[in-house]
Amino acid sequence: MSPKKAFVTTPIYYVNDIPHIGHAYTTIIADTMARYYRLKGYDTFFLTGTDEHGQKIEEAAKSRNRTPSEYADEISGKFKSLWDEFDISYDKFIRTTDAEHKLGVQKAFEVMFDNGDIYKGSYEGHYCVSCETFFTDIQLIDENLCPDCGKETRVVKEESYFFRLSNYQEKLLNWYNDDEKCVLPKGKKNEVISFVKQGLRDLSITRTSFDWGIKLPPKMNDNKHVMYVWLDALLNYITALGYGTDEKNMKYWPATVQLVGKDILRFHAIYWPAFLMSLGLPLPKHVAAHGWWTRNGEKMSKSKGNVVDPKEVADAYGLENFRYFLLREVPFGQDGDFSQKALIDRINSDLSNELGNLLNRIIGMSSKYSNFSISSKDVLSYHKKELLTAIEHLKMAETNLNELQTNRFLEELWKALTIANQSITIYEPWVKIKNNEKDFALATVAMVANILAKVSILLHPIMPKTTSKIAETLNFDISNNSYIRFIEDNDLLDDFIIQKVPPLFPKIEAELLVTPEPSIKNEKNEKVEVDSLITIDQFFQTKLRIGTIIEAEEVPKSKKLLRLQVDLGDEKPRQIVAGIKEYYNPESLVNTQICVVANLKPAKIMGLVSEGMLLAAKDENGLSLVRPEKNRQNGSSVG
Ligand code: ME8
Ligand code: MG
Repeated sequence: MSPKKAFVTTPIYYVNDIPHIGHAYTTIIADTMARYYRLKGYDTFFLTGTDEHGQKIEEAAKSRNRTPSEYADEISGKFKSLWDEFDISYDKFIRTTDAEHKLGVQKAFEVMFDNGDIYKGSYEGHYCVSCETFFTDIQLIDENLCPDCGKETRVVKEESYFFRLSNYQEKLLNWYNDDEKCVLPKGKKNEVISFVKQGLRDLSITRTSFDWGIKLPPKMNDNKHVMYVWLDALLNYITALGYGTDEKNMKYWPATVQLVGKDILRFHAIYWPAFLMSLGLPLPKHVAAHGWWTRNGEKMSKSKGNVVDPKEVADAYGLENFRYFLLREVPFGQDGDFSQKALIDRINSDLSNELGNLLNRIIGMSSKYSNFSISSKDVLSYHKKELLTAIEHLKMAETNLNELQTNRFLEELWKALTIANQSITIYEPWVKIKNNEKDFALATVAMVANILAKVSILLHPIMPKTTSKIAETLNFDISNNSYIRFIEDNDLLDDFIIQKVPPLFPKIEAELLVTPEPSIKNEKNEKVEVDSLITIDQFFQTKLRIGTIIEAEEVPKSKKLLRLQVDLGDEKPRQIVAGIKEYYNPESLVNTQICVVANLKPAKIMGLVSEGMLLAAKDENGLSLVRPEKNRQNGSSVG
């Protein structure tokens, strides 16, 4: 029997963007799935790559005085080398500028054309270059803004070839209906269904207004057009397998899991299956959309300049710890805010306290009770129940992983670890040893070792090196064989001598990245200096308010001070003592507005309480109060 096959894909990333945590997240989930399928013995193909054509790339290159192809080479190289540094186990890195890809796309265009799904017409409407997406009038916000990213759209009027997407509405709805898990998670699938139910228009699939794209097949005899970048890009999933050229890897199609972010689900759950139907190819098993990593609540993206460099984080905290964090921290499909604090909490509590400590406890107990030797011989007589419950959790874990619920997968693994940790507390092997129940005590230690072994196997796709180390101390290798033996067949560990190893997850005491925020890069990929800068949240810790001076008088015996009563819209006026006597006479201030720092701790100045500070600017010519340009209500906030 030939082994089962698996094909896992990531989106191909645009080369206008340097890789950030968002891209790393998608790629790491995909890598995890590929490693999981390999562990199960599937013949696995894992594809990633870069999306290099289209107007957005052409313009990004131009603005840097580069040719699109030089520019694409550079950024594509950055993605590839990051994935190599991250040990991403891809089998192919495709670039849409590859010759085979171009041939495959042209071939697909011909097949779709011959099937009657492509016709020539003219397009009139709005185009968002940033999203490389067409929109109709009613979709726009404020008449010309892109409903997805909010940027201005351009009016396009040009001859265009169209794909008969409207013909596929019913067929798509049938697919969603017949194949429960074709789009994951469920909530996202429902959004896709309601979108399709609103009706699908034919899709413009060629452009004439720029050049940086794949030409139509020579047979079409139409040199003016290049392919719409999304048609070109989506087809990478089959051209990478040799579609239209050398088709030997097409045996991997249909894809098992196609991972995407929710921003591009529509393309993958609507256009892509429609193209595939037109090509007469089977549809992917799962298109799975995850949420966004945000920074202070905003989507992390290059154009916002708020990206976190995944390499910096992995270098500081450990690549595998970082992988664990990404997959554990947010429920699949939802957004998550990145912070070093959350990462440190995960490392210290989940990894160090619960996983790492378990291994230390096994080593410690076996060294005291049995000279490091561990035997599973009595595990079933004393601890069948605990073992079976742990195994139930491991089964649940795998079910969750098959639906890409990586956080629940890890939660279930950790429930098994909790059973192990709690058994030590409950059964107190040290007491059993004293009470001459050595068999029981040793069985407890062995049960814990067996749970740890099974968890390590399933955790392997996420933390390959760490789990291999754990397995080594427990005298086995993680492989398809051990998966079959210890997970599928629920076998127990052979007797062995455990090795002493240093703690796997040293505690992290403080944030490790020097800058308070991991580096922020600007449009030109230069680091923005953030050391001396504050965040918007820090700024708003200062409450600035507009107020009216209702009384002003000199402070006796002081050369500099005036005592003011300021109405800040509160019940009582505030007393503020300010050093402005040399510049203002008191009467001229009454009934004028000023700007006040309203949440300063009160201070005593020459025996008078001052409950705020007013803003003023001073230079060699004098001092001037900062005032609103027009009167505002007392208490209005400034910011
Ligand atoms: O859309 N959080 O490429 P792209 C989580 N070329 N994931 C994020 C993210 C964030 N803040 N930002 C980006 C394209 N991603 C097309 C795809 S596929 C045929 C063509 C991830 O460079 C996420 O997977 O804009 C998202 O879907 C993808 O990067 C978009 O990458
Ligand atoms: Mg994008």
